[in-house]
Amino acid sequence: MSLNDNRDVTPWEVSESLGEGDYVRIASEFGAGLIDSDLRNRLEKLAGGTNPFLNQGVFFAHRDLNLALDDLESGKGFYLYTGRGPSGKMHLGHLLPFMFTRWLQKSFDVNLIIQITDDEKFLFRDLEWKQLSQVTRDNILDILSLGFDARRTHILIDSINGSTLYRRGVEVARHINVTLSKAVFGFQDSDNVGKFFFTSIQSVPAFLVSSLLGRNIRCLIPHAIDQDPHFKVSRDVLPKLGYLKPSSIISKFLPSLKGGGKMSSSDPNSGIFLDDTPQVVRKKIMKYAFSGGRDTAEEQRKYGANPDIDFSFNVYKLIEDDQVKVSKIREEYSSGSMLSGELKSLVAEKISQVLAELREKREIATEKYDEYLFSEDRLIESFR
Ligand code: TRP
Repeated sequence: MSLNDNRDVTPWEVSESLGEGDYVRIASEFGAGLIDSDLRNRLEKLAGGTNPFLNQGVFFAHRDLNLALDDLESGKGFYLYTGRGPSGKMHLGHLLPFMFTRWLQKSFDVNLIIQITDDEKFLFRDLEWKQLSQVTRDNILDILSLGFDARRTHILIDSINGSTLYRRGVEVARHINVTLSKAVFGFQDSDNVGKFFFTSIQSVPAFLVSSLLGRNIRCLIPHAIDQDPHFKVSRDVLPKLGYLKPSSIISKFLPSLKGGGKMSSSDPNSGIFLDDTPQVVRKKIMKYAFSGGRDTAEEQRKYGANPDIDFSFNVYKLIEDDQVKVSKIREEYSSGSMLSGELKSLVAEKISQVLAELREKREIATEKYDEYLFSEDRLIESFR
């Protein structure tokens, strides 16, 4: 796939050939820093523990993460902001980053805004409002099944929370011209005008708390690397409005089931969906999951596998709480003492176990749905 201006990554398109080796280059092209061991140690120390997404280098880059940690230490605090464009059923690749956000929320006991950009999908994916409202509710329940703290979590739905977003969105929009939009996002003259405006709406949660409270509180945004262009613009504009630049903690994508790029929701065999039964999970993993193993068992015993490009291993390393076990399996698989079939079978089982737990918690979330929804008063209250 060739993208506008030959980019590998924009918020709306990711090259299928994107590989592990490209991330560091892209982060540096975007101007984001890498999370080095000092910064990671500092984060883990303050969090009082570690997380597979950090250990395994999935959240690998950042902007001003150190400033968010400074604010935490000095007692000023920060809040988290992340989001989801509700386009269809959620698969593991969509959900996994929210696990990391939940860990951050728990570790720091901080407030979290989750923005649901249904307007974005209306503009960029030609989805209609009727479909969008169903998908929105379903996606929110999937996210909530991870067990976010209801008192500290605020779900902001663009099409519903319009008045909060619009009056602040236009404040941002006044500072973004068409030339900048084209340069940052790769838009063409033939793109609809809504696309040009949309980034202003995605900026709002990055200063919403400061705007509502009337004092600056730093925002830390966990997001995948493709969203970086939005927040680059936010960092440029927000100081002009008297707000702090938001900080980011940035992840790689979970590769697609068949390897490369990222999991897509349009192809049912491209990922593991949250409602896949254990039979379907097993079949997808056994049959389609990209393997880092060798062509024959004999060769694998002799040369070993490459776990880093192996879909199953890459999921496993994030959902297995016991990281000692993960290291052991990495070792066995790469040395050739474990074969691809054995790895796949173990991972399929683990995934199904995780999905079953999520389904149970989704039921509970269904009853508590309304408690999580955004209101200006509740947000202000949660900072008291
Ligand atoms: N644009 C994102 C998407 O398509 C959704 C989103 C909105 C988001 N705000 C965010 C993602 C903040 C990460 C962080 O999925």
